[in-house]
Amino acid sequence: MSEAGDPQNTRVLVTGGAGFIGSHTVVELLQDGYQVVIVDDLSNASEKVIGRIKAIVGDAAAANLTFYRSDVNDREAMNAVFDKNRIDRVIHFAGFKAVGESVGKPIEYYANNLGNTLTLVDVMRRHGCKDIIFSSSATVYGDPDALPLTEESPKKPATNPYGWTKWMIEQVLTDLHTADPEWNVVLLRYFNPIGAHPSGLMGEDPKGIPNNLLPYVAQVAVGKRECVHVFGDDYDTPDGTGVRDYVHVCDLASGHAAALKWMNGRTGVEIFNLGTGKGTSVLEIIKAFSRACGKDIPYQIDPRRAGDVTANYADCSKAKREMGWEAKFDIDDMCRDSWNWQSNNPNGYEG
Ligand code: WQD
Repeated sequence: MSEAGDPQNTRVLVTGGAGFIGSHTVVELLQDGYQVVIVDDLSNASEKVIGRIKAIVGDAAAANLTFYRSDVNDREAMNAVFDKNRIDRVIHFAGFKAVGESVGKPIEYYANNLGNTLTLVDVMRRHGCKDIIFSSSATVYGDPDALPLTEESPKKPATNPYGWTKWMIEQVLTDLHTADPEWNVVLLRYFNPIGAHPSGLMGEDPKGIPNNLLPYVAQVAVGKRECVHVFGDDYDTPDGTGVRDYVHVCDLASGHAAALKWMNGRTGVEIFNLGTGKGTSVLEIIKAFSRACGKDIPYQIDPRRAGDVTANYADCSKAKREMGWEAKFDIDDMCRDSWNWQSNNPNGYEG
């Protein structure tokens, strides 16, 4: 655990830092004055993101960024990163994240998500670095008994290997602290990250057919897809469609910056929900996106998707009370920024 460090003297390793949430967090940290090291194997991200990050933050802050194209599960590569850079904190995003895909590829998901975490924390401890923020997910709450979800709400069995990896990695990091109380662990449970950087230079760029609602809606709006498939309208919700707590990716980025400050000089394991505290339905998202892009968004009602819960949304009062963090952006902001990204980058980073 390094002493309480001001950003200028703190170097943060961001695994998966070329990904959707990772890249937005890297921008935030560079703008706050941190030294940042990205390790990303680009299995689910474009190397063009690195240039976009530098364009957003400018030359001075970009000089504080180092990028390694490596697999976090590659022990030799990770040892080299820690040998060459004094790492003070780690933010761990790297991992496969498609719920549906994980059902058909359990070996790949467990090997990658659990494997890269075990390698990472072993290399960390061998270099005396025990401060880690983990990118967890509301998925660990499963199908909630009660809403809103607080950090004390019970973890439930996951409904897919992706969810189990988040569940298990939280347990790995908790057990690590039990074995060695010097570890300083923050588990950030995101709800549904959407939106894009307001510059329009960075955003969500899933490979293939989007699993998640927002990128699919955006691709329909830009003409890449025919119509939105709404997975069920017979849920026990106001309009019958699934309800989620959508949170702007830039709010998530500031949540990580807040957690870095909060964890200074601490040890222990702390959980924070990062959301807005508001539930929004699928049809409400479609309507909001239609307002943002100025077009009707065609959709059809399909059968429910296996594994989906009816509703979840967060109680984020702990993040506000402890870290002074709360989401600033609303659904219209999220859809506006997502449309700005999609319309300026109809084929994502590949142009
Ligand atoms: C949202 C709502 C669907 C697609 C998962 C993970 C979470 C996080 C985000 C990675 C649901 C409906 C969706 C579509 C639809 N993971 N939907 N048509 O499943 O809440 O969360 O992704 O970052 O950890 O659990 O997100 O966007 O897939 O679904 O009707 O084409 O939209 O039924 O109600 P989900 P989602």
